[in-house]
Amino acid sequence: MNFHTGRSQDPEKLEPTRICVIGAGYVGLTAAACFSELGHEVRCVEVDAARLAALSRGEIPIYEPGLDELVTRHASTGRLSFTDDMASAMDDVAVAMLCVGTPPRSDGEPDLRQLARAAATAATAATRDVALVVKSTVPPGTCEALELFVGGQARDGVRVRVVSNPEFLREGRAVWDFFNPDRVVVGADETDLARVVAGLYPPSWPLVECSRRSAELVKYASNTFLAVKISFANEVAALCEALGAETDKVLGGVGLDARIGGAFLNPGPGFGGSCLPKDLSGFIAVAESAGRPAEVARAAQRANDMALASLAGKIESALGTLEGRTIAVLGLAFKAGTDDTRFSPAVALVRELLLRGAHVRAHDPIARVSEAGLSQVADPYEAVHGADALVVATGWAEYRDLEPARLRHSMSGHVIMDAVGVLAMEPLRDAGFDVYGIGRGLATSFAPVLWRPLEWMLDAGQPSGVQNP
Ligand SMILES: NC(=O)c1ccc[n+]([C@@H]2O[C@H](COP(=O)([O-])OP(=O)(O)OC[C@H]3O[C@@H](n4cnc5c(N)ncnc54)[C@H](O)[C@@H]3O)[C@@H](O)[C@H]2O)c1
Repeated sequence: MNFHTGRSQDPEKLEPTRICVIGAGYVGLTAAACFSELGHEVRCVEVDAARLAALSRGEIPIYEPGLDELVTRHASTGRLSFTDDMASAMDDVAVAMLCVGTPPRSDGEPDLRQLARAAATAATAATRDVALVVKSTVPPGTCEALELFVGGQARDGVRVRVVSNPEFLREGRAVWDFFNPDRVVVGADETDLARVVAGLYPPSWPLVECSRRSAELVKYASNTFLAVKISFANEVAALCEALGAETDKVLGGVGLDARIGGAFLNPGPGFGGSCLPKDLSGFIAVAESAGRPAEVARAAQRANDMALASLAGKIESALGTLEGRTIAVLGLAFKAGTDDTRFSPAVALVRELLLRGAHVRAHDPIARVSEAGLSQVADPYEAVHGADALVVATGWAEYRDLEPARLRHSMSGHVIMDAVGVLAMEPLRDAGFDVYGIGRGLATSFAPVLWRPLEWMLDAGQPSGVQNP
C-alpha cells in the first residue's frame, strides 16, 4: 500500500493511452503524474516559463504530498514529459486534457479565456481525431460551446470533439483523491467517446456517465452544496454563541446524522480558495441566466461575505481597538495542507486587520504571501513575540502544539482568537489568556433562551381551542 495513493504499487492494468495534459497546476500536474502511474504515456504542456523550468529541473512548483515521488519516477522513465511546445505534445495524440485555470471575473462569472486559448491551440495542433477532455471547472454548456468554437480550427480531416470530465480532488490530498475517487464523472454526448475517456480510469472506480452539461453541473452543484454547508455551519455557530449552546456538540451531533454527514460542518472564517467562492458565483450566474434564481446559493454567499467582517469585529472588540495594535496571524494558506493562498480567508483577514490600523506579523509553514504592510516570519513564536493578540487563521496541525506558557511569556497581550478551532482552550485559559473562537468563548445571556419558551408555556393558561387529553 502506498501512503499517498492508498493503493497497491501494482495498479489495475489498463490499455495504455498517449495523453496530452494542458496546464501543470494543482489539477494538471496531479492528473499528469497519476495517469502516468496508471500506465499511460503523458505529455504535459505548460506555458508558464518559471513553472516549466522548475519541472524540467525536477522540482515540483506546488506543494502536494506524494506528487514529487510520482513525477520523479515517471519523468525518469520518460513516461511523463513536460514541454511548452503544443505541436510536439499533440502529435499523434487522441486524448488531450484541459486543466487550465477558469478564475472568476470581477462580476463573479468565470473567465474562460485560458480555456478557449488552450483548446484552440490544441485543436490546431492535433494530427488525428482528438477528444478534448475538459477537467477545468466550467459552467454547463461550456463543452458544447467549446466544440463549436474550436471545430473550424483543426486541420482538414481532423475531428475535434469535447468531453466533460470534471475534477474533484482536494488540494493537500490531491494524489490520494485521484486514486480514491468518490466518483469519476464522464459527460459525453456520444457513447464511443464516453468509453474512450472512461477507459483511462480503472474499471473498478465508481463511474457516472452522463451528458456534457450534466457532468458540468455535477461539479458546480457539488461545490455549491459544500459552500452552503460551510455557511450553514457558521450560522449555527453564531446561534450557539447567542444561546450559550456548545457549538462542537451541536454541529457534531448534527453531523452524526447519516443523511447529513459531519464533513464541512466546521465553523470557521468562511470558505475560500480557488474553487468554492468562484464555483458558487458561477452557479449563481448560470442559474440566473437560466431564469432560475439560486436563492440558497446566494444566501450562502452573503453569509460568507459577512463571516470575515464578523471575525475582524470580534478581534477588534476583544482588544478595544485595532489601531496601532500588533496582531500575530498564524496561517496564510486557504486551508491546512496546501501552499495555495488564492482567495484565502486568512489573507483576507490580514488585509482587513491592516485596513483597521493593526500591525500584522504572520507565519505559515508553507505558504508565502507578498502583501504590503505584512511581515512574514519563519517561526510561530517569532510571530507572537510582543503581540497584543494571536489569531489562528489556518488549521495547521502544528499550531495545536503551541505551548501556552511560552506564548504567555512571549506575547504582551492576552487575547487569542482561534478562528479554525485547532487549539485546546482550557490550557490557554489556565495560562491567563482570553480565548475566543467561532461559536465558542463568548459571554452569553441566557435570558432570550428562557423567556421565549416560558412565554409560550404561560400561553397554556389561555384557551387555545386544543383539548388536552
Ligand atoms: N485546485 C483545485 O483544488 C481544483 C480542484 C478541482 C477542479 N479545479 C479546477 O481545475 C482548473 C485548474 O485549476 P488549478 O488549481 O490546477 O489551476 P492552476 O492555476 O494551478 O493551474 C493552471 C495551469 O495552466 C497553465 N496554463 C494556462 N493556459 C495554458 C495553456 N494555453 N497551455 C498550457 N498551460 C496553460 C497555467 O500556467 C497554470 O500553470 C480550474 O478550472 C479549477 O477550478 C481545481
